[in-house]
Amino acid sequence: MINYLNIDVTPKHMNILVTGGAGFIGSNLCESLLKKGHNVFCIDNFNSYYDPKIKENNIKTCLKDKNFRLFRKDICDFGGLEGIFDKISIDAVFHLAAEVGVRASIENPKLFEKVNVAGTLNILEICRKFGIKKLIFASSSSVYGENKKTPFSETDPVDNMISPYAASKRSAEIFCGAYSRLYGIKIACMRLFTVYGPRGRPEMAPYKFTKLVYEGKEIPMFGNGHSKRDYTYVTDIIDGLMAALDKDFDFEIINLGDSRPIELKKLISVISMVVGKDPKIKQLPEQKGDVSVTFADISKAKKLLDYKPKIALEQGMKNFFAWYKNNML
Ligand SMILES: NC(=O)c1ccc[n+]([C@@H]2O[C@H](COP(=O)([O-])OP(=O)(O)OC[C@H]3O[C@@H](n4cnc5c(N)ncnc54)[C@H](O)[C@@H]3O)[C@@H](O)[C@H]2O)c1
Repeated sequence: MINYLNIDVTPKHMNILVTGGAGFIGSNLCESLLKKGHNVFCIDNFNSYYDPKIKENNIKTCLKDKNFRLFRKDICDFGGLEGIFDKISIDAVFHLAAEVGVRASIENPKLFEKVNVAGTLNILEICRKFGIKKLIFASSSSVYGENKKTPFSETDPVDNMISPYAASKRSAEIFCGAYSRLYGIKIACMRLFTVYGPRGRPEMAPYKFTKLVYEGKEIPMFGNGHSKRDYTYVTDIIDGLMAALDKDFDFEIINLGDSRPIELKKLISVISMVVGKDPKIKQLPEQKGDVSVTFADISKAKKLLDYKPKIALEQGMKNFFAWYKNNML
């Protein structure tokens, strides 16, 4: 049931498990949870989708905290998960571990099914077996696929997915719904819209284009530059995830976006302004699996979580570039 009174129902300090906690969003989340005084248990298999050394760096600060513990485990290894939950009494789980990337999913769809669907089912089974009451799952705006209506609302049909990645995230949401209804696990599926910022994924446009412009190299621009993404700054996403932890619902699907979609050409001009160099653009054909627009209706997040994105693209890219210069050069 939704907590309409907006009362904070969460005990102050909890044992929280974060899967994918060494990744981009996961490591930012772990730091925020530690700052709030929670004990944080991180599971990550440091996969090689991008350089695992980046993930080692992501969690360096967390590793110095006595309330943080890292398990180098795969969510597909059920016995390995049982071993952790046997020893520690977990109050809530953030499930972020996943195979990511639309194009990678077209190349290797079976891996995406294995990790994102069967792996999520492992997490749900663990929650059932060990009586975990609360799960927050990182779903994706990609489930809206080629939705014609904008902005995308949680009540829109999600039958238009155009990548195995999107299909795997929607399948995982469906399993989450079934487990919530069957076993009373309180689950929030958060549909995240193109997240960027410090520790961002190196293959995503905000990071990749910044690097290329800075190095004076050509930017591969797929399509005519008019495709739009609802770029959302990572701290805004973390605020939304943390708010979901503090609220009490049975099962909800909630968009977390910025709700100000930006054309690809505009992203490139903002990057060029921030970096202080002109971009060299190479136009290429559109890529399979890429949707033409993402645009979040965030009224539900506003109502249930008091969610209010604060960082606009120009400021977010300035912050990102400052981080990039300090950490990646
Ligand atoms: N970044 C975005 O724009 C975005 C948008 C929508 C949804 N999401 C979702 O948010 C979550 C985090 O994304 P991110 O951008 O931080 O990606 P990321 O790749 O940086 O983080 C994912 C982490 O999960 C780990 N992982 C992958 N497979 C695993 C497995 N089998 N066992 C244990 N750990 C495993 C990886 O090593 C990585 O550290 C993902 O579920 C992703 O689908 C991200």
